[in-house]
Amino acid sequence: MIFVAASNSRYRVETLFDTRATTYSNHSWHVRYAERLVELAAPTSEMRILDAATGTGLAAIAAARATGPAGQVVGVDISSGMLTRARDAIVKAKLVNIELIRADAAALPQFEEGSFDLILCSAGLLYMSVNAALREWRRLLAPGGLVGFSTMREGFPLAATLFRSHARRYGLTLTDPSAALGTRRRCHQAFLDAGIIPSNVVEESLRFALGDLEHAWEAHIRGPHHDAVATLTPTQKQAFQRDYTTALTNLLRTEEDNLLASKVIYAFGGG
Ligand SMILES: C[S@@+](CC[C@H](N)C(=O)[O-])C[C@H]1O[C@@H](n2cnc3c(N)ncnc32)[C@H](O)[C@@H]1O
Repeated sequence: MIFVAASNSRYRVETLFDTRATTYSNHSWHVRYAERLVELAAPTSEMRILDAATGTGLAAIAAARATGPAGQVVGVDISSGMLTRARDAIVKAKLVNIELIRADAAALPQFEEGSFDLILCSAGLLYMSVNAALREWRRLLAPGGLVGFSTMREGFPLAATLFRSHARRYGLTLTDPSAALGTRRRCHQAFLDAGIIPSNVVEESLRFALGDLEHAWEAHIRGPHHDAVATLTPTQKQAFQRDYTTALTNLLRTEEDNLLASKVIYAFGGG
């Protein structure tokens, strides 16, 4: 199978999330981001739900709670580390209506057309080819069903934009991973390009904790579309890290509120 993702090999994404799996759900903004998507989608009893790129199962668990035992949730992810955490969380939550599958969420031939009433993807599309994924989800969507995804608004989080502007001093031009879907119009167009009729788009602000920024450098250098950082020499990388960390610390003194608030988009469409 060929895995199509802008600049990330499947292996790189898997490894990234295998490494992040143990601490992923400790960040309250990850939890809120996933649970808010489910809240807005408002799943009802007996729905068949796909949680694409389920990670540690945050949205899958919220969806299974919302439907009650009559609903069926399938969580799909490529990272076995994230799925292990999801499995633990499902057992802890005593839920029996979630199935987990390790697979590429943008290619699920094991499911027939119209298998799901609701397809959710929280913070996952930036790692995939958007069009391939949305087309696959349109195939899997039952008539009258709903597809919903979340994305950061273009230019957010601000700490990542600061990182990319500092990267330019070291000759690196890094793409904003939020750019592809990061406006209301682009979400709308992405649905139309995949044959899905856009319905509503909700724009909100999501708050990070101050402690999340302690890991900003690590998160950025391993983030999607930031692979070129690996081409720097160790000396350049050290200087870049020092410059960025100093700039971030200085900015926090005057702009803490702005740095901790990220604009996010929840987009929905159907058949
Ligand atoms: C930022 S995490 C989001 C996890 C979860 N949806 C949440 O909101 O907490 C992104 C997840 O996408 C998964 N992922 C990336 N590309 C994927 C693909 N093509 N198929 C399935 N999962 C993928 C990663 O392994 C990771 O668990």
